[in-house]
Amino acid sequence: MDIIQITENKKQYIDLLLLADEQESMIDRYLERGELFVLEDSRVKAICVVTDEGDGVCELKNIAVTPEFQRQGYGKRLINYLVTHYSGKYSQMIVGTGDVPSTVKFYQSCGFEYSHRIENFFTDNYDHQMIEDGIILKDMIYLKRKI
Ligand SMILES: CC(C)(COP(=O)(O)OP(=O)(O)OC[C@H]1O[C@@H](n2cnc3c(N)ncnc32)[C@H](O)[C@@H]1OP(=O)(O)O)[C@@H](O)C(=O)NCCC(=O)NCCS
Repeated sequence: MDIIQITENKKQYIDLLLLADEQESMIDRYLERGELFVLEDSRVKAICVVTDEGDGVCELKNIAVTPEFQRQGYGKRLINYLVTHYSGKYSQMIVGTGDVPSTVKFYQSCGFEYSHRIENFFTDNYDHQMIEDGIILKDMIYLKRKI
């Protein structure tokens, strides 16, 4: 299993990026300034994008695991890698997500805890209704983890 940073032609991973963030114009807001990592294990299994938010904080903007390989530990392995990779550079990692129990459980199992909520983030910023696990997304929930 290899985790590599991609610096060129990041849009080649757009299909996976859209799994976690289904509006391309929102991905365009962070993809170029963010650092993109790909986890390969024979083939591409997972990707993520991390941005520098200043004051010792980095933000996990996008993490997605290829559907047929979800729930096999790849998402958690990628986060563990990021924590080690960034631990000398940042003191905290944050992540914003929809208020959906399955996703929040994933981040909690990776050591994140609730930080704060941005009301109406999804309804204000996306051009269509976002539905995840049958839940209409409205607020963004932020979680944080010391690294
Ligand atoms: C969310 C996502 C990145 C998780 O990655 P993953 O590789 O499937 O998750 P892991 O196998 O590493 O899960 C680690 C632990 O998180 C928890 N977890 C993961 N998915 C979960 C789910 N759907 N429901 C409840 N708990 C879950 C479990 O505790 C799991 O451990 P277990 O399988 O031993 O019970 C992946 O499912 C995905 O790409 N989903 C679609 C895109 C997305 O929603 N991205 C996040 C947007 S903010």
